[in-house]
Amino acid sequence: MATDALLRLDKVSKHFAGGIVGLREIDLSIAEGEFLSLLGPSGCGKTTTLRVIAGFEAPSEGRILLDGKEITPLRAFDRPVNTVFQDYALFPHMSVAENVGFGLSLRKIAGAERRKRVAAALDMVGLADKINQRVQALSGGQRQRVALARAIVCEPRVLLLDEPLSALDAHLREQMQVELKRLQRELGTTFVMVTHDQTEALSISDRIVVMNKAAIEQIASPSELYDHPATTFVAGFIGTMNLLAAKLAGRNADGLQFLAGTLPLNLAADDAARLTPGDAATIGVRPEDILVSRERIENSVGVRVQSVVFHGRSLRVHLATDDQRNLMADIPRQAQPAAMTVGEQLFASLRPGAACPVLPA
Ligand SMILES: Nc1ncnc2c1ncn2[C@@H]1O[C@H](COP(=O)(O)OP(=O)(O)OP(=O)(O)O)[C@@H](O)[C@H]1O
Ligand SMILES: [Mg+2]
Repeated sequence: MATDALLRLDKVSKHFAGGIVGLREIDLSIAEGEFLSLLGPSGCGKTTTLRVIAGFEAPSEGRILLDGKEITPLRAFDRPVNTVFQDYALFPHMSVAENVGFGLSLRKIAGAERRKRVAAALDMVGLADKINQRVQALSGGQRQRVALARAIVCEPRVLLLDEPLSALDAHLREQMQVELKRLQRELGTTFVMVTHDQTEALSISDRIVVMNKAAIEQIASPSELYDHPATTFVAGFIGTMNLLAAKLAGRNADGLQFLAGTLPLNLAADDAARLTPGDAATIGVRPEDILVSRERIENSVGVRVQSVVFHGRSLRVHLATDDQRNLMADIPRQAQPAAMTVGEQLFASLRPGAACPVLPA
């Protein structure tokens, strides 16, 4: 990856006035044609990373390389990079065609060539019939597409997108996620997208960079992040996770036996080789891996139902164990024991075979 990366950030740091650290030694290699998302809480440095790649912001330390050549000193206009901004930044008094063709005019591309490329870009985003409209007359989703067309018309090597779908309602947003992915596949262009919506990042990306406090926590594929979070922060940030304080009770050929209070957690032995019995760890358990039953089953603990939340496909049940620990369980519709009620006494156990990350205590 490091050698054939299209874009590489090499120990990039950014310090702002007043001692604010925007980025701390960011190392990142992005492959040609990849759809990469930057995901993390507000203020973690996602936009700053994009701005540094685009050339709107100079790093305080470190280098940016494209095709192995340093581009750190190049101005934004001279980089083969375009940006789709969160607020689209369209020119309201111009037509759709004028907005999309703007970057081409700056590059002295005019006449038939310009018309052809504007039409092709609008076709890609499904707006061919809106070419002569004022952007003021367009809906939010249509403006979003104009902003995309304006960015792809210059045929950038890298397209940067900062929260491109955040202004759209949930339904349109999901539809645009699918379209964005299709567009990226058809163009074969490298996309780097900022989002703080983990569902969006998981559904659309080849790889996700999870950021926290100006630094990278983990870079991995969506399924790898979901199943094997490397840190407690990632485990708590991606999806919903019970983070259970536990102690290693024993180990044998079958695996590791942890106890979270009185709840037995029997895991296949793999990445916790460093632990010896008595050691403390945090075990990440997905709500869908907690089984709930009316009868006492093997390796279960007594629990009391605290609340039941309807999630459509499943019920999210908040439980308190007999030793006063909180536990969330997601129970699929077809597996629900008839009408669970608050205060009811049940039994909970870990689904055998569940893959649970073993994290530092
Ligand atoms: N021009 C600036 N001057 C001073 N501090 C800045 C500047 N730009 C960003 N910062 C600070 O750098 C940190 C990272 O900001 P950034 O905008 O990259 O966050 P973000 O991850 O995009 O957050 P959000 O999800 O809220 O957009 C924050 O602490 C922010 O206040
Ligand atoms: Mg931002």
